Order: sequence, then C-alpha cells, then structure tokens
Amino acid sequence: MQEIVNDIANSMARETERGQVADYIPELAAIDPNQFAISIALPNGEVYSAGCAQKPFSIQSISKVFSLTLALGKIGDNIWNRVGREPSGDPFNSIVQLEHEHGIPRNPFINAGAIAVVDAIMMGHQPKESLAEIIQFVRYIADDNSIGIDEKVALSELATTHRNASLAHFMKSFGNIEHDIDKLLGVYCHQCSIAMSCEQLAKSGLFLVSDGMNESSGYRVVSAQRARRINSLMLMCGHYDGSGEFAYRVGLPGKSGVGGGILAIAPGKASIAVWSPGLDKIGNSKLGTLALERLVEHTGWSVF
Ligand code: DON
Repeated sequence: MQEIVNDIANSMARETERGQVADYIPELAAIDPNQFAISIALPNGEVYSAGCAQKPFSIQSISKVFSLTLALGKIGDNIWNRVGREPSGDPFNSIVQLEHEHGIPRNPFINAGAIAVVDAIMMGHQPKESLAEIIQFVRYIADDNSIGIDEKVALSELATTHRNASLAHFMKSFGNIEHDIDKLLGVYCHQCSIAMSCEQLAKSGLFLVSDGMNESSGYRVVSAQRARRINSLMLMCGHYDGSGEFAYRVGLPGKSGVGGGILAIAPGKASIAVWSPGLDKIGNSKLGTLALERLVEHTGWSVF
C-alpha cells in the first residue's frame, strides 16, 4: 500500500495541469497550488500516506458530511423535511431550484442544504455552542482532539459570503430557516473553515467504512443503515454537478471541498483523503480526483 501511495504522489508531482485555486474566498486564493497529499486509513488503524499529509488545509464542504451526520443524530429523519436527497445537477452555490421547490434544497451537500442542516443543528443554541458541538463531533470521529478552525479563513469567508446569505434569506422566506441569518452564517462559515490534514481526514471517515463503527477507536458513530445512507448521498451528491463524472471515473462515495480536499470511502476497505488545492471548472480538486482514479485502478476498490 505504501508503494501505491508513493507512486501516486510522485506522478501527481509531475502533473503540470493542476487546476485553479478557489478565488472567491480571498484566504483560499493565496494557497500554493503545487501541493499534494494522500492518506489511506484502514479499519485496523493502519494509515498509509504520501506528500504533505500532516499539513492542515481548509476542509470546506467536506465538513457537510460531518454536520449531516450530527444533525441526523440530533433530529433523525426529521432532517428530510428540511432538505431533499436528490442530486441537483447545478453548481454548489446555485439558487435556481429553491424557487420552484419551496425553499427545500435538493440535498444536504449543496450550500443551501448545508445551511439548512446547520440551522437544524443550532436548535435555539448560541452560535458558539453549536460550533463547539460540531468541532467536538469531528474530533470524536477522527479520534483526534487537536483539530480546530482556521479563523483567518472563517473571517475571509464571512466577509464575502453574500451568495450564501442570499440562499439563507430565500429559504427563510419559505419558512425553512429558523435562526438569525448572521448567526447562522457565522456557524456555517466556521464549520467550513475547519482545518484538517489528510491523515486526520482519512481517519474521520473510518466510521463510514465499517458500517457506522470506527473499528480503530472502538467508537460506534452511527448505525450500519445510517452509514450506508450517508455513503449513498456522498456518491450521488458529493461532487455537485460533477457527481456523475466522479462516480464514472472513481466509483466511490466521495465529498469534495473548495479547499481542494476530497474524502472518499471504499466501504469495507478504506477511508481515503486527498488534497491538492487546484480545482476543476466545477470546483472539485483536479489532481485529487486524478489521484483517486489511479488508486482505484491499482486496488479495484470501485463499488461498481
Ligand atoms: O459556502 C461556500 O461556498 C464554501 N464554504 C464551501 C463550498 C465548497 O466547498 C464547495 N465544494 N466544492
């Protein structure tokens, strides 16, 4: 396994077409695109890494998997009254469907859906308490108390989050947002600004590999049925309007973020995190996707 990740990292270092870093969040626009990392966490606790796999990066939308899991734990299937479970086929920050679909976002991974999920998590709590709960949950699933938030990214995002504010106001007009929008976006932007290394991120996905149980830490995070369902949402919706392409090329449940990370789950086998900040036109990591494509070629881990 170590040889495979070394080979992948070496071949990614030679790639010249590395995509474009996200520039709509100023702090992310300043990241060096010539970076790459990969980590593979196995249920028995072994981790195989190459590249800068211990360097924290902004996980951005990958955090939406964790907030959905937390929301399901808090309010169960009631969350599905607030968000759907269908791929959107539209960009991650699109507003168009909300008008025809009564302010109910298509799924919990597009921005509108993730904002509604955070609203559900808040349930009358102060923003700081909700944020603490989210961060605590991420530390628990990754079995790592050192995970934190990159405050600079959070503030940079908050200062430019006009599109998310529009989505939140639009949903509120349909009665699908309860909380004060500034407070809600404060929690959402901080959640997206959680910083994790590939090693931490790979470990955080282990509960989705083994039917809801992190076998390495011994924690049962969710039921087997819930783990399967979260994986199905990642497969269908985790890469926005690039989800079909990701399923075609990689064939694993996966969730991307505009920081350039991707968390991919090979059920029963491994949790994989890749990071390369350059994005494709849709906003998914260009080399991260290529690296995962190579990995499944080597391992046969595609679910298809
Ligand atoms: O709300 C935003 O736009 C960002 N915090 C997250 C977007 C994101 O990561 C989309 N992913 N590919």
